[in-house]
Amino acid sequence: MENLNEKLKVLYSEEEVQKRIAEIANLIDNDYKDSKELIVICILKGAAFFTIDLVKKMKTPIIFEVMQVSSYSGTESTGAITVKKDLDCKIDGKDVLIVEDIIDTGYTLRALRQDLLARGPKSLKIAVLLDKKERRKVEVPIDYVGYEIPNKFVVGYGFDVDEHGRNIPYIGYIEE
Ligand code: IMP
Ligand code: MG
Repeated sequence: MENLNEKLKVLYSEEEVQKRIAEIANLIDNDYKDSKELIVICILKGAAFFTIDLVKKMKTPIIFEVMQVSSYSGTESTGAITVKKDLDCKIDGKDVLIVEDIIDTGYTLRALRQDLLARGPKSLKIAVLLDKKERRKVEVPIDYVGYEIPNKFVVGYGFDVDEHGRNIPYIGYIEE
């Protein structure tokens, strides 16, 4: 995957992304000000970049967990998910926040939410960095959204094209 950088247009710069994440961190801190412990679940791999920057900007005490579910192959979502890496802890009676990179069709987050709700958390909220609203096939309640974006394929800041480009520091898109 050569010259990926050259094919990309900037959608949100590194600075813009960090500023928006700080705003989301404030919203979350405000909502959880009475919480003694929030379990933050980072959905690997894409959301790792967003989650780490987000929790570093938050003041709410957290437990950092990761989960990995079946991912994209190429540029189309399959619908069903398989849990490849599960949580290390129980979440029953706990405040839980899922952090995902993007909601597209909604299949991934819907399945994940149902899986986690079945484990009996006290509360369950969802944060996504990007929302491709016009692509939604199933409705999922999202509590925190970084940006609503048009139907473009994004790369960088965790987003990949077949595993390439995740470490590009800004959010770019490939022009059709
Ligand atoms: P959904 O199940 O259709 O909502 O898909 C969500 C998943 O699709 C995300 O976790 C991403 O891995 C992937 N995805 C969706 N759009 C993009 C994109 O523009 N670039 C990279 N990955 C994407
Ligand atoms: Mg993903």
